[in-house]
Amino acid sequence: MKKVILFFWVVLVMASCAEKVPDLDKEEVTSPDGKIALTFEVKNGVPYYQISKEGEPIISPSRLGFIFQNAAALDTGFHIVNIKKEIVDNTWELPWGESKTVRDYHQRMNVALEEKSGENRKLNLEFRVFNDGVGFRYEIPEQPHLEELVIMDELTEFALAKDFQAWWIPAVGDNQDYEYLYKKSPANVLREAVHTPLTMEYKDSLYISIHEAALVDYAGMTLLNIGDNTLSCDLVPWSDGTKVKTAAPMKTPWRTILIGDKAGDLVTSNLILNLNEPNQLEDDSWIKPARYTGIWWGMHLEKQTWGQGPKHGATTENVKAMMDFAAKNNLSGVLAEGWNEGWDGDWTEGRFDFTKPYPDFDLAEITRYGEEVGVGLIGHHETGGNVESYDRQLEDAFDLYKAHNVHYVKTGYVSKLINDKERHQGQYMVRHFRRVMEEAAKRQIMLDTHEPVKQTGLRRTFPNLMTAEGARGTEYDAWSDGNPPSHTTILPFTRLLAGPMDYTPGIFDIMIESRPNNRVQTTLAKQLALYIVIYSPLQMTADLPENYKDQPAFEFIKNVPVDWEETKVLNAKIGEYITTVRRDKESRSWYLGSITNEKGRTLEVPLDFLDPNTTYQMTVYADGKDADMTSNPLSMQIDSDTISSNGTTLTLQLAPGGGAAVSFQPMEQI
Ligand code: NOJ
Repeated sequence: MKKVILFFWVVLVMASCAEKVPDLDKEEVTSPDGKIALTFEVKNGVPYYQISKEGEPIISPSRLGFIFQNAAALDTGFHIVNIKKEIVDNTWELPWGESKTVRDYHQRMNVALEEKSGENRKLNLEFRVFNDGVGFRYEIPEQPHLEELVIMDELTEFALAKDFQAWWIPAVGDNQDYEYLYKKSPANVLREAVHTPLTMEYKDSLYISIHEAALVDYAGMTLLNIGDNTLSCDLVPWSDGTKVKTAAPMKTPWRTILIGDKAGDLVTSNLILNLNEPNQLEDDSWIKPARYTGIWWGMHLEKQTWGQGPKHGATTENVKAMMDFAAKNNLSGVLAEGWNEGWDGDWTEGRFDFTKPYPDFDLAEITRYGEEVGVGLIGHHETGGNVESYDRQLEDAFDLYKAHNVHYVKTGYVSKLINDKERHQGQYMVRHFRRVMEEAAKRQIMLDTHEPVKQTGLRRTFPNLMTAEGARGTEYDAWSDGNPPSHTTILPFTRLLAGPMDYTPGIFDIMIESRPNNRVQTTLAKQLALYIVIYSPLQMTADLPENYKDQPAFEFIKNVPVDWEETKVLNAKIGEYITTVRRDKESRSWYLGSITNEKGRTLEVPLDFLDPNTTYQMTVYADGKDADMTSNPLSMQIDSDTISSNGTTLTLQLAPGGGAAVSFQPMEQI
């Protein structure tokens, strides 16, 4: 049954200006708590918005508008025809996620504009101001002089009112897969287009992050510094140089600006989800978060191969053995990559057949065996960027998995350009992704998308869109200079603001014995902590089964929940450390993950998030006293104690590159 529970819904029409109010050229709308104010203004015919918090400017007057290929620009000559404001307060439920319920509490302002002369074309704007930020979008309504439209440029600007420091990754050239290390620099010196979420800090007292919500049929937005401390929307083009092919009536994605006093406020914001449409699936009872493992890390370590040969990984025998391992260890899925024709030779050419298994991979037998031992197969569709071919095969490919009761599929788009010409974040791929989500949902298939179109909260509308890559994950530790320890202390405040990430943690062979030039740049305890800090409803146990043998720390991974009642960030400094706690949806247990960058540190954590009337069995998986990511990454201390929250503070000693994972199981009500 569709789970849309509306606890209460209050709509107050605050002010509805009469039709045609030519004198009105400026109007303010505030967040329900009154702290954030957005002012919309038409000055000399040009529309602008600006944002402040408690009187402090955040976004200075910034332009809005469009340039078209086949029509005159829609950016000036306007007057305000109508303004309407409403307060909305509504609470809804997520089928899975970082929290169970989400409150959508905002004040909205709908502005109707019209050109004062000529064709009197119309443009509407909708602003929603929440206690934790702002979202706005354009609507081009149906009208005589604007029908088929080709957008060449969206003129939205974000004029920064402060000298913000930004954490950014480049969005230039062909490669737009987000797999870069973040750099930090003043926002006003950015020289190239950058991806969103773009997170910025001002004097450790103001944090903002610019992104977008509900990217459904449009081009992805990147941000370009155009001088004067102003970032401008820079849409990812089609191969023909146009940006968006559309027709009125149409609505753009929401432009979002999260605003918080603390870095952790960004992490717990639900603004992006709130701006997406409600769950469209009539029945979502089949959607289930899961812990999984797979035939995967072996290929990245070059111990196994995707293609055929003596080291072929995805054989019936290997997958069944992996299913046995999963069944014994409370993991419900096994991913099998390299199961289908197309991997031999240079697989990045994308000559895959998604319905032809290799001869040593017996899909029917594997899925039959999986049912016997209670473990599902996780299917895999790597396209190598040949989306034309994948699109042709999509329905047959999903039908095959459906016929074998495969409910999870990981997709991949490894390539610089899609079909040798389109970009990962352009409208072509946005449309493709939507089709994949819909076709998957029809067959009760959940998705884990690698090299994805950026997440923009569409998981609210299509909850079968479970998780995605879209950043450097653990695989980089296998074959590159790896992810430095600061990387995972930046991701929660940048990439993860867009949605869950399949980071694939859980490597216990930290030094990667078989590859002397590669290693994982964490301690063992930090690998556990990542299960809490980096949220994914599909969490991988990424290492080879033999590396978990006789490892007491594996207990944590076997039982860590993947679906949460609530989430809090207890302390954080972007690029340095973060401590996150989450309460299990199934039980009253709490879990804590704390991680640091290359510096060791001691963090005092008050346990006041626990229920004051309950005693808990606390199990701490901490860096050992002599642990150090470089010289002694495996040193770990596991301690258990009975505690209650009253005035208790936990001291966490994080080693350089280290972390801590803690579980709190309720014992009794006091
Ligand atoms: C890149 C993905 O991120 C990785 O997980 C996968 O194993 C390879 N592509 C092959 O599809």
